Amino acid sequence: MPAKHCESAVVIENQPVADGIFRMVAWWPYPVQAGQFFMVRGWDRFPLLSRPISVHDADGERVVFLYEVRGEGTRLLSEKKPGETVLLSGPAGNGFPTGQIRGKVAVVSGGIGIAPLLLTVKALSGCAVTLCCGFRDKSYGLDAFRPYVQEIRVATDSGKEGHKGFVTDLLDPADFDAVITCGPEVMMEKLARDCIAKQVVCYVSMERHMACGVGACLGCTHHTAHGAKCVCKDGPVFRGEELYA
Ligand SMILES: Cc1cc2nc3c(=O)[nH]c(=O)nc-3n(C[C@H](O)[C@H](O)[C@H](O)COP(=O)(O)OP(=O)(O)OC[C@H]3O[C@@H](n4cnc5c(N)ncnc54)[C@H](O)[C@@H]3O)c2cc1C
Ligand code: FES
Repeated sequence: MPAKHCESAVVIENQPVADGIFRMVAWWPYPVQAGQFFMVRGWDRFPLLSRPISVHDADGERVVFLYEVRGEGTRLLSEKKPGETVLLSGPAGNGFPTGQIRGKVAVVSGGIGIAPLLLTVKALSGCAVTLCCGFRDKSYGLDAFRPYVQEIRVATDSGKEGHKGFVTDLLDPADFDAVITCGPEVMMEKLARDCIAKQVVCYVSMERHMACGVGACLGCTHHTAHGAKCVCKDGPVFRGEELYA
């Protein structure tokens, strides 16, 4: 697992890519793994806590975040200008075990759950990847995925783009050797239960409110088949059957 650091990182770019969705690039000359995240802070005192944001992409020099403006923390991040700094603590969490995954892989996202999946599909080289992604009205960020996936299937709630309905309508897990997912918990639970029923390996990236991000406060504890686990330290990635069997 890559070593953790807590450092000020200089922002290189921070631009909107869709309504309320920003892409931030910052200098980060350390290794990171697909599915890991950082505790990010772009302000002084308030809000008190740093915010967990996944690694969208990284190349050993830069790290990229794709984030949705939800409240005060992400609003302050969206105001960062190139040359200003953000405090990054991480990389945190376990990430997806991409080296153990082979064959046909479905990568399934809901909304901003697409964020950790770009570095993930890049790390799945040698696999045949189908990206299934759900959005409210309109897709974003998909061009970056195209060189690394065989197919992209889109669902929207409104039907303005792709299939009108749930992203889970876009695939049958039985057609794949493995499924990777990040998005709303209700979507991931439905998909993971389907995978369990069809005996397909499924990796789920969980979201929880996080205070420390290092397993100290127990604020992000989640019940699993192996007892209570910290999503920040033992996750955020879990096997589907650990959570839902
Ligand atoms: C491991 C992990 C990785 C994440 N990666 C990304 C990412 O790559 N891009 C991205 O846009 N977001 C990501 N998130 C969610 C992000 O952390 C929250 O949106 C952010 O903390 C909101 O902070 P805020 O101050 O803007 O909003 P707040 O004022 O703190 O909250 C605004 C609203 O968002 C809800 N919310 C806040 N934090 C969370 C959370 N952790 N889970 C669910 N709901 C929450 C609150 O209940 C409230 O309704 C991730 C969360 C986790 C746990
Ligand atoms: S956020 Fe503190 S233990 Fe996970």
